[in-house]
Amino acid sequence: MTPTERTAYLEAADRVKWKPADYFRETPVSEFFARPAPLVLDLGCGDGGFLLAMAKRHPEENFLGTERLVSRVEKVARKIARAGLSNARIVELESHYTVRWLLPAACATTVYVLHPDPWPKRHHHPRRLIQAEFMAAVHRVLAPGGELCVQTDDKPYFQWMEKVFAECPQFERTDWHVQADWPQTDFERDFIEKGLPIYRARLRKV
Ligand SMILES: C[S@@+](CC[C@H](N)C(=O)[O-])C[C@H]1O[C@@H](n2cnc3c(N)ncnc32)[C@H](O)[C@@H]1O
Repeated sequence: MTPTERTAYLEAADRVKWKPADYFRETPVSEFFARPAPLVLDLGCGDGGFLLAMAKRHPEENFLGTERLVSRVEKVARKIARAGLSNARIVELESHYTVRWLLPAACATTVYVLHPDPWPKRHHHPRRLIQAEFMAAVHRVLAPGGELCVQTDDKPYFQWMEKVFAECPQFERTDWHVQADWPQTDFERDFIEKGLPIYRARLRKV
C-alpha cells in the first residue's frame, strides 16, 4: 500500500466510526446511515466477525455495531473499510446507553446480543447487560414486530436471562432455527468445536 493509499484507507476507517454529534440527545438514523434501510443492531460486536458477515450477506439492510473497547472499535472499523461495506458502521459506546438514550424509538428491526460478558461472580451480576431495564430499552428501539436475538455459551447467565425474559410480557418467545449459512462468531465457533452447547433465545416485540 502506498502512503497515499494508506491515508485514504485510514480516513475511510475513520468515517466508518459513528461519532454522535451530541451524546445527550436521540439521534435520527439518517445521521449515521444516509440511505434509509432496515436497521440491525449488533450490541457488543467484539471483533465484528458477525457484523461484517451479516452486512455482506444483506446489502439491503444497515448494520450498526456497538463496542466499548476502543481497540476493537478501531479494528472493526478498519475491517469494514477494507471490505468496502457502506451498510455497516460501529459506535464506541456502551450498549445499554445506546439503546436507552441515543437511538430513536422504533428504529431497529433486529437487535443481536451475542455472547455478552457473563460476569460470573455474584457481586458482579448487576453488571450483566440483560436486565429488566435493558429489555425496556430494547423494546423502545425495536419497530413493531422487531426481534431480539440473544445467544450465550454460559449456562448460568442463560438461566438468569430466562428469568428476566419471563418477566417481560412486552416480548413473546419464538423459535430460533439457526440457518445453515448463519455466520458463527469466534466465541460460538470455539464452544461448538469443544462440543459445548450454545443457548439461544429469540423474542418478538408484542
Ligand atoms: C464476549 S465478547 C462477544 C463478542 C461478539 N458478540 C461475539 O459473539 O464474538 C463481548 C464483547 O462485548 C463488549 N461489551 C461488553 N459489554 C459491553 C457493553 N455494555 N457495551 C458495549 N460493549 C460491550 C466487550 O468489549 C466484548 O468485545
